[in-house]
Amino acid sequence: MQFTFSAAFFALVLAAAAVPTKRAACSNGRTAAHASCCVWFDVLDDIQENMYAPLGDLTFHDAIGFSPALFFEGKFGHIRLYLLPRGTDGDDSDGSIMAHSDVETLFPVQLTCAHIDDIVDAQRPFAIAHKVSFGDFIQFAGAVGVSNCAGAPRLEFLAGRLNFSIASPPGLVPDPFDPVDKIIARFADAGFAPNEIVDLLVSHTIAAQDHVDPTIPVRTPFDSTPSVFDAQFFVGTLLVGQTFPGNGSNQGEVVSPLAGEFRLQSDFAIARDPRMACEWQSFIGGNTQYWNTNHLICFCCCPSANHGTMTTKFRAAMSKMSTELKNLSEALLLREMYFTA
Ligand code: HEM
Repeated sequence: MQFTFSAAFFALVLAAAAVPTKRAACSNGRTAAHASCCVWFDVLDDIQENMYAPLGDLTFHDAIGFSPALFFEGKFGHIRLYLLPRGTDGDDSDGSIMAHSDVETLFPVQLTCAHIDDIVDAQRPFAIAHKVSFGDFIQFAGAVGVSNCAGAPRLEFLAGRLNFSIASPPGLVPDPFDPVDKIIARFADAGFAPNEIVDLLVSHTIAAQDHVDPTIPVRTPFDSTPSVFDAQFFVGTLLVGQTFPGNGSNQGEVVSPLAGEFRLQSDFAIARDPRMACEWQSFIGGNTQYWNTNHLICFCCCPSANHGTMTTKFRAAMSKMSTELKNLSEALLLREMYFTA
């Protein structure tokens, strides 16, 4: 009898599994695995059609605005933040830069180097119109912005961040004039190893500056192919600097190799730091011997890489930045329980 029941039950399970899952019907004849995902088609259409603000760097400025170190010093957050997956309760990519733009966009780094307030103001109405959380919107828009560039990977996007956040404390977004040790320490606090900083900086291959030197044309690019997701940024940053695109009096800028190109001091320094130079050069691939002799110091044997390696590492680092660190949260929670036990 027991066997009969089990076999019947098993057959039922198989039958249920064989029934094709009904996909939810979304706008314009598109379908999704779940109805709650349909809204992202509408957001996609809307931002592709109507959004003119840069989409990429807000993902970073929102996500980096948390600090386990400050948490343990009792200066930021509360234990509840670490009881939930990151991004669901006021940490990580939680949209706080949009929800608390009156605080976070006034930090010196935002005012002098990025003018994030303009981007936040441009993006916020879209998130509100589509009733999605600020944290979700920022990461989705960033993923769309990247995928618009030729050669870019499709980034992972996971929705589900609550629209609750607390304002980030100042000083957590790196400045382009920060010493490398300070940049590494800041990323380490956020859970990123030096190699992963380089992986995230792949985003600078499609980046430009508007605010470090506000006197030069807007969208002065960081490499010679700013609309293409290629390794040119990693090559260009290693070349000998020749000139400034402006008068060169700006903090965070160093001489660039080409007229009309802008070089951040932080990119220059990271490319040459022994902890990150190999990862940097690995994205270039080709003849590393050439790079070693003619351009820089490589402190280890740099493996050659191809476009696929660069995009895969970038994709993984962006996923980590935008969603994960649940592990870190859990580790912090365990540590907290250990110390309070
Ligand atoms: C050491 C860390 C970093 C520093 C110091 C830095 C600094 C900067 C600066 C100064 C600009 C120019 C902003 C402007 O003038 O408007 C910029 C642009 C940009 N950054 Fe970074 N960045 C860092 C890391 C990152 C990371 C990790 C990402 C993404 C994952 C990122 C994405 C971007 C993008 C997409 C732009 C172009 C924005 C635009 O098109 O207007 N950056 N960055």
